[in-house]
Amino acid sequence: MKATEILSQEHQVILQVLDCLERIIEEATSTGTLEAQPARDAIEFFQMFADKCHHGKEEAHLFTAMEAKGFPRTSGPTGVMLMEHESGRAFVRGMNEAVEAAAQGDRAAVQRFAQSGRNYVDLLRRHIEKEDHCLFGMANQVFSEQDQHDLLTAFEKAEAEHTAAGTHEKYLAVAGALAQRYGTATQCAPDACHGCSCGH
Ligand SMILES: [Fe+2]
Ligand SMILES: [Fe+2]
Repeated sequence: MKATEILSQEHQVILQVLDCLERIIEEATSTGTLEAQPARDAIEFFQMFADKCHHGKEEAHLFTAMEAKGFPRTSGPTGVMLMEHESGRAFVRGMNEAVEAAAQGDRAAVQRFAQSGRNYVDLLRRHIEKEDHCLFGMANQVFSEQDQHDLLTAFEKAEAEHTAAGTHEKYLAVAGALAQRYGTATQCAPDACHGCSCGH
């Protein structure tokens, strides 16, 4: 397996929780009150799994390996991806700042939560599409066998740290519970599923 395939599998879990966030926002805007616990769970998943674990691996290992092959940090594709990670963090902060008041039925806070959430869903879906269909292919074209091996080793090390801390499993379980609740679980083929929350 290539390192970028691990990232693409994580994208499937993130996309599933983005679908859940969309349902959370629809419910909140139609009822006027945000349901607190699923919203808090989704925010924590985006902060920990999507940002700390997933974007962490991209920023610390994949993007730096691409830049070592000549991709410019500020103006190239990895620079755009880094800027989008930052924009995503701002939208998650926006949701987090509004979540408690929105759960109390504060209509303005519900609107702020919904706006930040919709912006985040749009941004991250487009970001994942670019990585899966463009950036990862560029990376795999320039990496040697040794580069691929080194990157996979770095990912495994990062993953072992997260697994030791219980982070990875905890947030896969959070994603699975949200997907069950909102009926957004993906249907993977059993032999093609590696680590998403479909239950295989
Ligand atoms: Fe990314
Ligand atoms: Fe990604």
